[in-house]
Amino acid sequence: MRNKLIVGNWKMNLTLEESRRLTLDIRQGLTNLSEKAEVVVCPSFVHLANVHYQLPSSIKLGSQNVFWKGNGAYTGEISCDQILDLGCSYVIVGHSERRKNLKETDAMVNDKVLECLQKGLKPIICVGETKDEKEKGMTEEKVTQQVELALEGVKSKDVIGVTIAYEPIWAIGSSNSAEPSDAQIVISRIRDILENNYSEKESEIIRILYGGSVNPQNIASFVLEKDIDGVLVGGVSVKANEFVGIVKQVMKI
Ligand code: 13P
Repeated sequence: MRNKLIVGNWKMNLTLEESRRLTLDIRQGLTNLSEKAEVVVCPSFVHLANVHYQLPSSIKLGSQNVFWKGNGAYTGEISCDQILDLGCSYVIVGHSERRKNLKETDAMVNDKVLECLQKGLKPIICVGETKDEKEKGMTEEKVTQQVELALEGVKSKDVIGVTIAYEPIWAIGSSNSAEPSDAQIVISRIRDILENNYSEKESEIIRILYGGSVNPQNIASFVLEKDIDGVLVGGVSVKANEFVGIVKQVMKI
């Protein structure tokens, strides 16, 4: 049985003091976390160390990105070893904002996934279609391609360390989330891809999340869907009350 995973992606937000306050408020709000829900927060790189020291061990830390090479002459980049040292266990990889603004390709995403798995970090691989692709009926094709390319060369024994997040690009930051039943269809398709490329065992272990305008009002309808194992939350994850509210609702289900 997969337990639910709730990931807060704080994106490029908050001062050091604001991130300290947010961490303390989340900590206070989530003193009774149960096994039913695993919670991860992903601050900016520059705040990871501070957030790490303030987080209880029941809440995990993730980074929003990582470089695909080990320590060395890569100015401005951050290695797996460095974020492991700061207490991270998860890394968001291939977020659509990076694919768009930083021109991250599927090959780069694959390199990052391989490096994370080799170093013992759990990549959260983001996939999803644009509005245009959705309107052209290309959602399945796009998501299949992104999942398969991200996992190229990943062995069965390692793939269980991966989480996939289906984030339709048109739903991100739009207050216009996908219909939970539509997200379920895409996510069950992703589970089929995992079964075809690995086996039923792996496809039943790997968690697949939904992301895109998740809030306390719509969270229940997503996690009640059979294949949706949790959520990747953006905007609302920097509001302690709302993020805590999301986690509490998931624990009640
Ligand atoms: P929003 O929750 O703001 O739509 O962002 C989703 C997202 O991009 C999480 O990675």
